[in-house]
Amino acid sequence: MKTQASFGLVFLLMTLVIFVAMTMKIQYENLTMDMGQQSFESTKRQWRNRIDALPRGVVESTTDMALKPLWERSSRKDGSGNYAALLAMAVGISQKQNVDILVRKFLIDNCSIILFHYDGNVDGWHDLEWSGKAIHILAYNQTKWWFAKRFLHPSAVSAYDYIFLWDEDLGVENFHLGRYLQIMASEGLEISQPALDPDQSSDIHHRITVRDRKAKVHRRVYDFRGSLNCSDESTGPPCTGWVEGMAPVFSRAAWKCVWHLIQNDLIHGWGLDMKLGYCAQGDRTKKVGVIDVEYIVHQGIPSLGGGSVNKAPSKSLDLRAHIRRQSTAELEKFKERWDQAARKDKEWFDPFEGYARIKG
Ligand SMILES: *[C@@H]1O[C@H](CO)[C@@H](O)[C@H](O)[C@H]1NC(C)=O
Ligand SMILES: *[C@@H]1O[C@H](CO)[C@@H](O)[C@H](O)[C@H]1NC(C)=O
Ligand SMILES: *[C@@H]1O[C@H](CO)[C@@H](O)[C@H](O)[C@H]1NC(C)=O
Repeated sequence: MKTQASFGLVFLLMTLVIFVAMTMKIQYENLTMDMGQQSFESTKRQWRNRIDALPRGVVESTTDMALKPLWERSSRKDGSGNYAALLAMAVGISQKQNVDILVRKFLIDNCSIILFHYDGNVDGWHDLEWSGKAIHILAYNQTKWWFAKRFLHPSAVSAYDYIFLWDEDLGVENFHLGRYLQIMASEGLEISQPALDPDQSSDIHHRITVRDRKAKVHRRVYDFRGSLNCSDESTGPPCTGWVEGMAPVFSRAAWKCVWHLIQNDLIHGWGLDMKLGYCAQGDRTKKVGVIDVEYIVHQGIPSLGGGSVNKAPSKSLDLRAHIRRQSTAELEKFKERWDQAARKDKEWFDPFEGYARIKG
């Protein structure tokens, strides 16, 4: 009888102890959760829009376009680690032959290649021996500037010293990448283009792009025809400080600026070239130039791969007229946007107007 009673008492006591312990545990958990919540709330405010939540040593703010092996030993010997230049082009299958010649020339110097396919045909390129070395991106009916804005963010291409954003209809028989880059560096050019061969190019719009046979590089043109008055006094486009949109080459710093200048919605890029000089990292009459000794041919074939004048993705005149109208409208919009931004930004001043005033 007595043992039964004490057993009952021990059982009761144990139940009580367990109950109290559980209650305390729950309270403790609630308390720590509250504390955690509070400190999290306060730091969340500091963390907004920042990457401080990551330990600094693990942050990778840039990348490159080099293809990587899936595992160590699957790596073929390739030119990775050599990041002098990146060639990016919008291409269609009808220009395959020309693009093949162009890309092979760039691959000799281990240039990285990105092809933006605007006609949907990617498979048609696979038989080319270098196709596997290129990056292929597909979006229907998009322009070179549309692709560049989306896939060439400065952080994504900052491994490269130079960015070539070229049209697909360029002849490169007299162009050598290595020599071109040497000249660009030694001449201190931040934005450049190879000169156009006037004898073979069917599509030359501006005299400043025409090859000067006697020069290595030229930075201005002398022209007094029509409304033009290009002299040594000129300080900006179309006389000096600019290149055209069909074959621009940008230094890393210039590209960072140009990417920001490309408007998200204005995909034809009209008017952009006139403002490129603002991205020249200094005096555009010195840091923007046309390289004469390495020159190209502009074939002027209508396509979306070109951002320049009169181009459309088909032979249809009607379609080309639509695109031309759209491009002209975008040009007006871009001009308005620039002017308005210049007026509204009280801290901004036009570096080249100041320069002209001092000079004049
Ligand atoms: C390109 O890469 C190959 C293979 O790594 C190398 O042998 C060659 O010298 C490189 N060429 C240039 C111009 O850097
Ligand atoms: C691209 O544009 C062409 C007209 O040039 C049109 O026929 C075609 O349907 C478009 N493709 C897509 C996927 O929108
Ligand atoms: C061209 O500009 C220069 C200097 O800016 C000026 O002296 C000259 O009269 C101008 N010529 C014409 C034809 O407008």
